[in-house]
Amino acid sequence: MFFPGDLVALTIWIIMILTSTIDKNVVLATFCPPRCKCNEVKLLVFCNETQIDLVPIMLNPQLKELYLHGNRIKNIYSSFIVYQELQYLDLSNNQIGDTGKKSFIMQKKLKVLLLNGNNLTQLNNLSFYGLESLYLLDLSHNHLSEIYSRIFMSLNKLEWLDLSSNQITHINKEAFFGLLNLKRLNLHGNQLKHIPTQSFYHLQSLVALNLSSNRFTHIPEMAFSPLAMLEELIIDSCSISAIHSRAFIHLSNLNYLDLQNNRMANVPTESFSYVTTLRTLNLSNNLITVLKRNAFKNLTHLQTLTISSCPLSQIEKDAFIDNINLNRLVIENNKKLSRIEIGTFEQQHDSLEYLSLRSNMIAFLDWQTINIKRLHYIDLQQNPLACNCSLSWLIAYLKHSNMISQSQKDQVKCYFPNYLYGKKLITLSETDLSCSKLNSTMKTVVNIFTYTAMLILIMTMMIVICRRHKRCLPFCCICRQCRFSSCCCCRNCCSTESSSSSSTTSSPSSSSTIPSSSQPIIVGNHHHHHLLYQRQYYQNQQQYHYSHQQYTDNDDDDGVQNQLPAKSRLENSFYYPTKIINDELTRDKQQIQQQQQQQQKSYHFPYRTGTMTDSTRTSALSVDLHPIPNHSLPISHI
Ligand SMILES: *[C@@H]1O[C@H](CO)[C@@H](O)[C@H](O)[C@H]1NC(C)=O
Ligand SMILES: *[C@@H]1O[C@H](CO)[C@@H](O)[C@H](O)[C@H]1NC(C)=O
Ligand SMILES: *[C@@H]1O[C@H](CO)[C@@H](O)[C@H](O)[C@H]1NC(C)=O
Ligand SMILES: *[C@@H]1O[C@H](CO)[C@@H](O)[C@H](O)[C@H]1NC(C)=O
Ligand SMILES: *[C@@H]1O[C@H](CO)[C@@H](O)[C@H](O)[C@H]1NC(C)=O
Ligand SMILES: *[C@@H]1O[C@H](CO)[C@@H](O)[C@H](O)[C@H]1NC(C)=O
Ligand SMILES: *[C@@H]1O[C@H](CO)[C@@H](O)[C@H](O)[C@H]1NC(C)=O
Repeated sequence: MFFPGDLVALTIWIIMILTSTIDKNVVLATFCPPRCKCNEVKLLVFCNETQIDLVPIMLNPQLKELYLHGNRIKNIYSSFIVYQELQYLDLSNNQIGDTGKKSFIMQKKLKVLLLNGNNLTQLNNLSFYGLESLYLLDLSHNHLSEIYSRIFMSLNKLEWLDLSSNQITHINKEAFFGLLNLKRLNLHGNQLKHIPTQSFYHLQSLVALNLSSNRFTHIPEMAFSPLAMLEELIIDSCSISAIHSRAFIHLSNLNYLDLQNNRMANVPTESFSYVTTLRTLNLSNNLITVLKRNAFKNLTHLQTLTISSCPLSQIEKDAFIDNINLNRLVIENNKKLSRIEIGTFEQQHDSLEYLSLRSNMIAFLDWQTINIKRLHYIDLQQNPLACNCSLSWLIAYLKHSNMISQSQKDQVKCYFPNYLYGKKLITLSETDLSCSKLNSTMKTVVNIFTYTAMLILIMTMMIVICRRHKRCLPFCCICRQCRFSSCCCCRNCCSTESSSSSSTTSSPSSSSTIPSSSQPIIVGNHHHHHLLYQRQYYQNQQQYHYSHQQYTDNDDDDGVQNQLPAKSRLENSFYYPTKIINDELTRDKQQIQQQQQQQQKSYHFPYRTGTMTDSTRTSALSVDLHPIPNHSLPISHI
């Protein structure tokens, strides 16, 4: 069937053939199919995603690269006969169901053939006939179910064969016949139940084999023994639960082994010990519970080991004892792994640089465990860390590491103790981790100081309030003795309180402290010969009172004590042992008081300025009376 467009194209093609002897390039430039891009200098044609359903046959026969991907091409019979110079042919994502026979017989120079994403169901031994320069063949994402004998027979130069994402269940033992130079074979995403060991005998040059996402349940003895050159073996996501101890025998060049996402319950230590050249091993997503002693025996070249997302609960101390070149160790997301013993990485002291223990159940990691010379990255985020002093190394480590990003550092959080739950470790100080005993003592001392200071402050405030109000606030009477200079504010209270309790005197203090006029004061064993004559004293005293009274009247807010002349202030500060002289003084008491009252009357009041109520008068009186004994103290040595 021909569409009008194709008819026109055919006509043009005939004209082109007829005129090709005149000037090929000029004519060709005219016939680049609609929506295609033709580069006549580089000899490339881009007809990708142009909705064509036939291979354009009127392009420059010198064409080197032809891009036809994403169209609706269904068959390719003999389409390429004219393009003998073709090196790159992209037929991917079309609807090709059959390659036909000898379709590429003229493409002796073709290097890359992309047939992925088509509807190929089977190939025959003439499909790729003649592609003697082919380097890469992509047959992935087709519907191939079986690879028959000698299909790739003429592809002697092929290095890269992709058969992934088909439905291959069987590979003939002669399937890869002729692939003398094949280096990479991808069989990912097929339905293979057995490793096609027999077919591998034709792949003497194979370097990388991807067998992931197939249906192997076990790897038998000598499964890969023909692949002496193999370096990379990928067998992930295959439900493998058993690996024969001699499965990897003869893989003398293997350095990359990916066994992630299988069902292995143990590390196949014996099997691995035959691949001493191994450098990278991934055992993630298996059912491994324990890494036993020397689990990776003989793997002295192992550099990168990943064991993540396993029910791993224990790593024996000597698990990595043979792996003296281990450089990068990733043990992440093992939700049963709660501890790493000291000495686990002892043999890695000179090799380990990268250690990720992210997202396990590790509460604590001793500094000694990871005191590794070359380690420059350690990841402990998403672990239930117990933040005590033993982890302070980690804070220092995080702060100084420039290999770890800030957001990663922020993910290292505390889980215990409760008051640090959810806190970013990097924000904590050694004090937060309650580090040294000295620090805790310091803390106590500081606390005591704080409380004492507060107490003093409160008392000072009480005193100030007492003084300001000159009233008998309940707490003013704490200083009942009225002996301490700072308690002078309380004289009111004390005197009233005392006078009510003592019937004999108006001021108990004065009664106990006024010295006798004739007898020396005896303190302890010392006799003091300071004779104080009462009358003389009183005259002096009265002068103080007078001046004092004026001060207090003018400035009610200031303390009485500070207004006293220097001398009396000094005397006030003496300690006065009242009891000793109490008896001697008692007899003079009444006499003195009478004199006091008289003198108060005669001297005091006339000199006062302003008005005075009765209450203030009595108050002034008692205030004035009080300092007398203190002032009278003649004792200079006790
Ligand atoms: C066609 O493919 C080429 C090479 O892959 C690409 O550069 C170009 O953008 C594609 N054009 C369209 C229309 O997809
Ligand atoms: C692919 O091939 C199958 C069987 O050969 C056929 O039924 C189907 O229609 C084809 N699909 C396309 C998109 O051509
Ligand atoms: C191709 O396969 C057919 C059978 O399908 C067989 O008869 C023939 O000999 C094979 N050709 C080659 C070159 O192997
Ligand atoms: C194996 O092949 C699949 C499909 O091409 C690919 O996605 C995967 O990355 C390959 N694995 C490796 C390790 O190369
Ligand atoms: C392990 O290595 C030692 C020393 O290289 C070797 O003698 C032994 O045969 C190896 N074991 C296996 C199972 O390959
Ligand atoms: C190992 O496997 C895990 C999980 O399957 C994957 O995330 C990781 O990238 C792999 N690592 C390497 C080095 O192949
Ligand atoms: C910190 O916690 C770990 C685990 O709970 C414990 O082993 C260690 O002795 C603790 N260190 C200190 C200094 O309390």
